[in-house]
Amino acid sequence: MDERQRCHLEEVDPVNGKAPDRPEAFRLRAGAGSGERMTLQQTIPPEEAGPKLACRNVWKLFGPHPRRFMTKHGNNPSLEDLAARNYIGAARRVTLDIYQGEIFVIMGLSGSGKSTLVRCMSRLVDPTIGEIILDGRDLSRVSERELIELRRHKMGMVFQHFGLLPHRDVIDNVAFPLEVQGIGRKTREKRAREVLELVGLKDRECNMPNELSGGEQQRVGIARSLAVEPEIWFLDEPFSALDPLIRSEMQEEFLRLQRMLHKTIVFITHDFDEAIRLADRIAIMKDGEVIQVGTAEELVTAPADDYVVEFTSKVPRAKVMSAQSIMEAASPQAGKCRPLTEECTVHCEAKVEEVAPAILANGQRLSVVDDDGKVVGYLRRKTVLGVLFEGEQQ
Ligand SMILES: Nc1ncnc2c1ncn2[C@@H]1O[C@H](COP(=O)(O)OP(=O)(O)OP(=O)(O)O)[C@@H](O)[C@H]1O
Ligand SMILES: [Mg+2]
Repeated sequence: MDERQRCHLEEVDPVNGKAPDRPEAFRLRAGAGSGERMTLQQTIPPEEAGPKLACRNVWKLFGPHPRRFMTKHGNNPSLEDLAARNYIGAARRVTLDIYQGEIFVIMGLSGSGKSTLVRCMSRLVDPTIGEIILDGRDLSRVSERELIELRRHKMGMVFQHFGLLPHRDVIDNVAFPLEVQGIGRKTREKRAREVLELVGLKDRECNMPNELSGGEQQRVGIARSLAVEPEIWFLDEPFSALDPLIRSEMQEEFLRLQRMLHKTIVFITHDFDEAIRLADRIAIMKDGEVIQVGTAEELVTAPADDYVVEFTSKVPRAKVMSAQSIMEAASPQAGKCRPLTEECTVHCEAKVEEVAPAILANGQRLSVVDDDGKVVGYLRRKTVLGVLFEGEQQ
């Protein structure tokens, strides 16, 4: 164990030092035709690799005697039961799996329980009932001491307001968690420089926080949470205070970091555009409950209920729907009669938005191919136009 790995950090963030694992369950790659969005490509089926983090029937109630209340209601109170006794069901019957290497986004209206759920996951708050399982270990059964160790070695957290120390310069802010852990100046500054370079702030180490823009301060906060190399990274609306342009730059930066670091990430946002850009999968919460978990495309094409329909109603279909979801399936003989050129084919996972220029330039029909170049279907111009203009798919 090196010096950094022995360190402790509770005062600043529940994040701590251990070299990040390479993802086992997933390999992340750039989305077809897009340099920025990332999609999951499974190398080992996630169900075989097992989740990195799992929630099993997690409830968090706020009120006078939450456990007693839960027992009295058979551990399954309704919203009416809760309201009748003035309990808040901030998390209710949450069961989900988060896999190594994925960006798992949590969305929902204000007060729907996003922050509470993430705090339960990191055990910053104790669930009233239910299991949080990290790498196969039920966190409700580990001792306080073990929990602190797990936090030290596995978890990182970034909040909306990073709370930089105003009287310390950038490098001291980033190195602060390591200082708290008792690491010597030389080692901690070396590490701080590494992460500052990662977030593109190499030349700003001597600046004070008030000399930085909002976006740059956010990067310092991100660098600080990365200094201790968490395996699982919780981010609660980290970009929500930024103006749209900086926010977009930060999202790009974040994806660039993830391409290098392959963290398991739980990311809360209110913003569907942000979710589409970052998420491998999205969970939608309402009144403490997770209503649906799926890719953006699944939420749009197969919403679980009217709430998800309403919630996703403003999502531009062309950004989330893929060629394969609107194509006509090919016959088994497809593609055998004439050679295919790159111009007349699109990948089945390409988004409608990405294939639009090709179909506009190449007439009425494109062949849709899989990873092996096999034709799996056809895309018609009018279908693509229908989605592009939010119309009926014809
Ligand atoms: N410590 C607490 N005591 C009592 N109620 C709480 C506490 N923390 C959260 N709540 C309540 O739990 C519910 C869920 O809150 P939470 O902060 O998780 O929502 P959120 O989805 O993160 O909202 P936002 O988008 O506004 O951040 C809310 O009704 C909130 O008032
Ligand atoms: Mg919140």
